[in-house]
Amino acid sequence: MAREKGQPKDGTRHPRNGLNDLPGNAWMFFTKTILQTSFPSELGHDLRRQHYANKPPRLMQQIIEFFTRSGESVLDPFAGVGGTLLGAGLCGRRATGIELEQQWLDIYLQVCRDAGFEAQETMCGDCLEVLPRLIDKGRQFDAVVTDPPYSPALKKTLCDDRYGRSNRHSPFEAFSASPSDLRNSASFDEFYDRMEVVAGYLLQLLKPERYAAVMIRDSYQHGEYIPASFWVAERFRKVGFQFKGLKIWYQTGAPVRPYGYPFSYVPNIVHHTILIFRR
Ligand SMILES: C[S@@+](CC[C@H](N)C(=O)[O-])C[C@H]1O[C@@H](n2cnc3c(N)ncnc32)[C@H](O)[C@@H]1O
Repeated sequence: MAREKGQPKDGTRHPRNGLNDLPGNAWMFFTKTILQTSFPSELGHDLRRQHYANKPPRLMQQIIEFFTRSGESVLDPFAGVGGTLLGAGLCGRRATGIELEQQWLDIYLQVCRDAGFEAQETMCGDCLEVLPRLIDKGRQFDAVVTDPPYSPALKKTLCDDRYGRSNRHSPFEAFSASPSDLRNSASFDEFYDRMEVVAGYLLQLLKPERYAAVMIRDSYQHGEYIPASFWVAERFRKVGFQFKGLKIWYQTGAPVRPYGYPFSYVPNIVHHTILIFRR
């Protein structure tokens, strides 16, 4: 196929590309706004799926490969069972993961042992307490790639069980009861306020001109769409990040339910928004 005018040559990395190790065609491909991945059964998926919101390591790898070069460092303050940490390992990056619940880090460490992977740096605790300690130590990272809780706990998840949980792999009991869990924020406003504090710390921990990729899922409650990703983006802008755009991760295989049918439009939200910020 003929190259369009101005399109980079396949297979060649631009000599002035200081951001990543990608050849021009891979750089161009990543700038498309849609990413499509399912959950391949690999890298301890059976163990990791105990976490209600684990992410495919190969998806995280694609994001990390765009925003870092080999050997560079990635920070994830909401590490869960390590989608980002494993993704970083897959492409030869160093990573630091903070997670509130030791049980999730234990699963990540078990997956590493089973796969023969060297474990990345992990810290158990509330990131609102751990991040300022990293700032005090003068730590700096080449990228932030993270997947926070998306909102406070929602009353109408799965439409009050109307359509069952047959496609759901994780037990709801897996949620933390800790008040430090951002998911246990009392309201959307409190959740956004706490995300703003996290954003302020991340800005200080990121090297100048580098990027943060933040995954947020919008939701639908009480007859209205809740664009949580827009509100989180606004809070990151408020602390000084530049909002560079977004990518949509289309979660192939997500179940589709007839929520509003045949009376009204109710979306089946089968995507996550990946917000891209630059310091
Ligand atoms: C959406 S999940 C991340 C899943 C992860 N990407 C994975 O692949 O497993 C969000 C995680 O943030 C953690 N979390 C919530 N509040 C936190 C806080 N204040 N500090 C650190 N971790 C927190 C939760 O325990 C949960 O594991």
